[in-house]
Amino acid sequence: MDVPFLDLKTQYQQIKPEIDRAIAEVVESARFVGGERVERFERAFADYCGSSHALGVGSGTAAIHLALLALGLEPGQEVILPAHTFMATAEAVTHARGKIVLVDVDPKTYTMDLGEVEAKIGKNTWGIIPVHLYGHPANMGPILELAEKHGLKVVEDCAQSHGARYRGRRTGCFGHAGCFSFYPGKNLGAYGDGGLVTTNDETMLARLRLLYNHGRNSKSQHEIEGFNERLDAIQAAVLEVKLRHLDGWNEARRAHADRYRQKLAGASLVVPEASPDVEHIYHLFVVRVQDRPRVVESLKKRGVSTGVHYDRPVHLHPAYGYLGLSQGQYPVSEACGREVLSLPMYAELGDAQIDAVCEALREATGER
Ligand SMILES: Cc1ncc(COP(=O)(O)O)c(C=O)c1O
Repeated sequence: MDVPFLDLKTQYQQIKPEIDRAIAEVVESARFVGGERVERFERAFADYCGSSHALGVGSGTAAIHLALLALGLEPGQEVILPAHTFMATAEAVTHARGKIVLVDVDPKTYTMDLGEVEAKIGKNTWGIIPVHLYGHPANMGPILELAEKHGLKVVEDCAQSHGARYRGRRTGCFGHAGCFSFYPGKNLGAYGDGGLVTTNDETMLARLRLLYNHGRNSKSQHEIEGFNERLDAIQAAVLEVKLRHLDGWNEARRAHADRYRQKLAGASLVVPEASPDVEHIYHLFVVRVQDRPRVVESLKKRGVSTGVHYDRPVHLHPAYGYLGLSQGQYPVSEACGREVLSLPMYAELGDAQIDAVCEALREATGER
């Protein structure tokens, strides 16, 4: 049985009338950038997250980059982030001319290791970027306590955690800013690039509004040097429709995760678990296997497509060779790089498909 890694075509077929109508309305209005559709989506998403404000931007990377600038990161100041994340988390900091300080991740939740965060806080530390990786919220309680104690900013990377809850509240409402990506394959994905920043801080929001639109405070006056990082109206219209389905889709993902766990019990691999105080949204269902290339090949032969998120931590990419960090400094992140394997995970996945993946995986890894 063929099991694709992602199936956005089926999702579109299920909501086609709503999506087509929403896109047609934008085209007919000829209001493509900014305007009421964007504002409506921003309001709906802020309410969904339990945040006071939301501002749509061009991508998840832009969301983090602009949030850091809007919150006042100065060149050379340090920002602590996990070594095991997508490169964009680090790029946003270095593009803002901040200095990245990496910490290892917890081997159960794949989110930042709190002991290491505390150890790396110094006099030049400006802030912390917890990444809610794979859809599992980082341990925000202690992170916020540390930030409060040391006067640090907290910018949540929510690119993989739309709707996930920590102690009953949704990610994106805890820090000074919450940064979302709407890349098409995300739990809430646009039909192109898109992103958004949530915040409760009006001063920061005002600065963000300047930064994302050429530093402009009126048609003619440019207050500061800014960027062109606005969310367009077609994306906002698509996202507004899809937001109404998000909780249902996340619920389906959780049910799939339970089935995976049940069907993989006893197999020679590590399956993901959610901490008791979170509601995981399984953006990715990531197992850990030995001899990954062989397992991937074996699954492929049985029609099962997989992904790797990510095959190495931030410090081992040539792009950050200048940091001078060597192999061995972040052992959990480095082991993740060798062993993680993302299985097909999307709301539309069928039970028979999950069973086929598990059977193929058991065959490839053997029993424990
Ligand atoms: C953890 C994480 N941070 C940031 C981003 C950047 O988002 P975008 O691709 O929308 O720029 C992504 C997207 O893949 C991500 O997974």
